[in-house]
Amino acid sequence: MSPIQRVTLGAGGKEHQAADEAIRSFAGRRFAGKVALVTGGGSGIGEATAVRLAVEGADVAVLDISAEGAAATVERITADGGTAAAVVCDVTSEQSVAAAVAAAVAAVGPPQVVCNVAGIGGFFRTIEMPLERWERILAVNLTGPFLVCRATLPYLVEGGGSIVNVASNTALMGQAYSAAYCASKAGVLMFSKALAAEYLGRGVRVNVVAPGGVDTPLIGSFGLPEGADFKELSRIMSPLGFATPAEMAGSIAFLASDESSYTTGAVLSVDGGLTI
Ligand SMILES: NC(=O)c1ccc[n+]([C@@H]2O[C@H](COP(=O)([O-])OP(=O)(O)OC[C@H]3O[C@@H](n4cnc5c(N)ncnc54)[C@H](O)[C@@H]3O)[C@@H](O)[C@H]2O)c1
Repeated sequence: MSPIQRVTLGAGGKEHQAADEAIRSFAGRRFAGKVALVTGGGSGIGEATAVRLAVEGADVAVLDISAEGAAATVERITADGGTAAAVVCDVTSEQSVAAAVAAAVAAVGPPQVVCNVAGIGGFFRTIEMPLERWERILAVNLTGPFLVCRATLPYLVEGGGSIVNVASNTALMGQAYSAAYCASKAGVLMFSKALAAEYLGRGVRVNVVAPGGVDTPLIGSFGLPEGADFKELSRIMSPLGFATPAEMAGSIAFLASDESSYTTGAVLSVDGGLTI
């Protein structure tokens, strides 16, 4: 049985807190003395990841385009006795990423762990999809991880490191009305494998977590196109229902930690049996 009762979509709040508590009992101290940088740390899976890494001893730089989100996560971590710094960052901007990584290093030190979690989505009929939305989804979901990896790799190579990039089940299977999202996530998957090959033997591991449905604000932001048939989306519903952000964070933390020292270029599907 899963350690967590399945969550109701959109419940958030208390239900997520209860889930966090349940999974927290599995947390060790795998990141004691380490520094982690988490993008998208202001909400959902990124927030849960930042919290989990901090609980396990990491000093965490919480990067997000939302200053409020990042600050709230840092407050949560520090209230619990952890160390974290909020850094505003738009992962699509070269300048913003460079400034954010510099600020993160100044605040908590050079990272050994980098988790690229920031992401956006949206359902569109492909022939109606505005070019700006296509470009924005690709920019946040794919160019973002590239820019953050490029800016942090010098530190990781120096101190040994682990990168975890968050893709999606949509990197592995088609999802209606999601051409940009699927393309971006498949891109993340192969970007990560290419990076893993490039840094093999240079002390940096690169792995991917591919979540299925997770109860976060992102799901509500997709917005089905008018007149779309929900049945077309039924094949993307995980047999085990929705996951909690903490469940994703557990898998991300495993791949980020030395416990997965022999694992690089791997894709871990955490999708409740969706892609069996
Ligand atoms: N929720 C799901 O069902 C699900 C499934 C598969 C994959 N994912 C992936 O998991 C990741 C996290 O998603 P989530 O569900 O936690 O969503 P979320 O909306 O709760 O969190 C995403 C965070 O990314 C931040 N962000 C957005 N654009 C940014 C930018 N340009 N620069 C920096 N930060 C930015 C947002 O402010 C937000 O805090 C995403 O990459 C998403 O594609 C989610």
